[in-house]
Amino acid sequence: MAPPRVALGALFVLRAALAAVYFQEQFLDGEHWRNRWVPSTNDSGFGHFRLSSGKFYGHIEKDKGLQTTQDSRFYAISARFPPFSSRGRPLVLQYTVKHEQKMDCGGGYVKVFPAGLDQRQLNNKSPYYIMFGPDICGFDITKVHVILQFKNQYHENKKSIRCKVDGYTHLYTLVLRPDLSYEVRIDGQVAESGDIEYDWNLESLKSSAKKTGTEQQGWEQKDWDKQFLEAGAGAPSDWNSKLDGDVDLQAPLLQKPPYQDGLKPEGIDSNVWLHRKPKDANYLAESDLTEFDDIGAIGLELWQVRSGTIFDNFLITDDEEYAQKFGKATWGETKGPEKEMDEIQGKEEMKLAREQDEAELPRARHGQSPRFPGFPGFGHKKEL
Ligand SMILES: *[C@@H]1O[C@H](CO)[C@@H](O)[C@H](O)[C@H]1NC(C)=O
Repeated sequence: MAPPRVALGALFVLRAALAAVYFQEQFLDGEHWRNRWVPSTNDSGFGHFRLSSGKFYGHIEKDKGLQTTQDSRFYAISARFPPFSSRGRPLVLQYTVKHEQKMDCGGGYVKVFPAGLDQRQLNNKSPYYIMFGPDICGFDITKVHVILQFKNQYHENKKSIRCKVDGYTHLYTLVLRPDLSYEVRIDGQVAESGDIEYDWNLESLKSSAKKTGTEQQGWEQKDWDKQFLEAGAGAPSDWNSKLDGDVDLQAPLLQKPPYQDGLKPEGIDSNVWLHRKPKDANYLAESDLTEFDDIGAIGLELWQVRSGTIFDNFLITDDEEYAQKFGKATWGETKGPEKEMDEIQGKEEMKLAREQDEAELPRARHGQSPRFPGFPGFGHKKEL
């Protein structure tokens, strides 16, 4: 079959014109990736990565990515880029992951780190800004993590987002916008979206605000929920300007995101307007959740029982449209041929197995088979 034509020239023009692309990695230059990716030496037992397009693929070169090669290992590897802040801009994180080994238990996620990351010492304690992507363990865990760090705490998404569990390459995209909305896309389709303030566990953040003990917090705590319900302008009805400080009633108001039917959090009026919080409030400002000031590295820091996962097409940008185009030009072009090759291989394997069975059959009739005739499936390797 003809290799997919990827209009990379067009992509780069677009990139220069519109998008800030902070990091892009397709592993198209052979072993040179080793100059960009630093394996951690923090534990001599860390598993090794190699460049591979796997057992089946859509394009032997374009589908090459970082593949885990050893079972029951921790992995830790990272790549650097010039540090940037996502303040006031969308942040789009995207990559492809393929569990062609039929993942039984292991991580398929990426982490985005502050520029201060010590790459050689990367381990599971290394502070990160974002952890995003699929995690699979048996039938119980098949989820997409979106863990965000702000105020030095990690916050996990409350909405459970199911990940893909088959052996094909899938495209995972996380979009965080300055207005606190977010989107998780899998294979270009929106799997979850909404408002970070509602869809993340922020309990620990609220309780840490309580502990700091300024006078203002009295208001912050008791009105945490109430403020969302105060429609229209004006301070909360029990506002005490002596205790709570002056609230600027002319301050810009933030509009709550328009919730689609069924997605509206209980007890919240969809037309509610939210006050911009007092400047020195010790909890979330609208910029906190999506603002990471010194983003400088991306990495894989995970555990895998059965290895063979391939990570590819990493992208960090501020441009959602560029990410979509990049996804289409990479995953979009190779997913079809990849499936075809897998199906052809599957048919060939079945044919071979049938031929072997037929060859063994005459002996089985004469009682020479090592198999038990009453158990036709016996002897076949069973998938977990
Ligand atoms: C691994 O990294 C930690 C810092 O996170 C450090 O304290 C420890 O000494 C390192 N271990 C090795 C073997 O390098």
